Amino acid sequence: MKVGMLTSGGDCQGLNSALRGVAKTLYNELGNTVAIYGIRDGYRGLIERDYHIMRPEDFSDILTRGGTILGTSRQPFKDMTKAGEEDEETKLEKMLKTVKQEGFDCLVILGGNGTHKTANLLSEHGVNVVTLPKTIDNDLWGTEVTFGFQSAIDIATSVIDSIHSTAFSHSRVFIVEIMGHKAGWLTLYAGIASGADVIVIPEIPYSAEKIARAIQKRQDSGKQFSILAVAEGAISKEEAKMSKKEFKAAREAMTQPSISYRIADELKELTGQEIRVTIPGHYQRGGIPCAADRLLTSRLGVAAAQLIQQKKFGYMVAVQSNQIVPVPLKDVAGKLKTVPPDGEVVRAARALGLSMGD
Ligand code: F6P
Repeated sequence: MKVGMLTSGGDCQGLNSALRGVAKTLYNELGNTVAIYGIRDGYRGLIERDYHIMRPEDFSDILTRGGTILGTSRQPFKDMTKAGEEDEETKLEKMLKTVKQEGFDCLVILGGNGTHKTANLLSEHGVNVVTLPKTIDNDLWGTEVTFGFQSAIDIATSVIDSIHSTAFSHSRVFIVEIMGHKAGWLTLYAGIASGADVIVIPEIPYSAEKIARAIQKRQDSGKQFSILAVAEGAISKEEAKMSKKEFKAAREAMTQPSISYRIADELKELTGQEIRVTIPGHYQRGGIPCAADRLLTSRLGVAAAQLIQQKKFGYMVAVQSNQIVPVPLKDVAGKLKTVPPDGEVVRAARALGLSMGD
């Protein structure tokens, strides 16, 4: 059996341990009847026929390694079926040709939202695909948790922990901007775990006046510093009412480099306080996977390998009620899992006295 593996989209912790989980299980159960090929830089390698045979040793010693030994790249879904220059095949056609000519019996694809749309497209065109849910954003539909998420929570939490002491010493307001794209999972979870005072997420549009009031309330109770965990995708109440076009224009006209700096300017105006912004950025995606992600990727890897042995293709291995289950790719592709604004975790944050900025 010839298996091609690729990692696509933004990297995160746990990619290598997931590859290891799939490979070890396949080698253990199928012995030398399986040949695993590592496809370089995600779909790029499939489009450009850039892959190589892997040896069992290649999957040793990578359980704790960050990044991905296969490399990754972003290949937008919308470009997959775009016609190229005259007579040129589309990226999709090139990928299908690679799979056919190389004789891959199946592809194991590790990725997030964009990656899953393309994986589903390949599956619809007859390719045998099994996928694993990767992203620090935790915004993939069909799984309660994605790998990378728990490691990123640890990092974002430790950033806010460190900011705490400086905020206290200087009696300042600090904003820590957390990644997560259009979803607030990472900000919400790290914000609660680190004891942030205000959490601003895209799913709950913010009001600068309400945030200023929360800061004032803390000061009135004798607390001279405040920490805001702000999602990179945060939007204001005014922006939430805009059409897509209006929102795009408003953001293009924004003079600050990111939403946190804009909120800082708004709060400076309203409170007259000194505000500092910290953006850990890609730091949140790097380094070793936490123990929870190592365990999760190992379980997901085994489950993916078992689907391959059962010849059950067109599925993502997912977590539901703490069990690993197969979810059809067609159900996952193109859907975003966002934070329920009235869900239990948001209610817990509010019960703890945190402001959600609204
Ligand atoms: O999807 C993961 C993520 O880190 C998002 O949180 C963030 O918006 C984006 O990727 C950053 O992308 P890039 O690495 O291409 O700058």
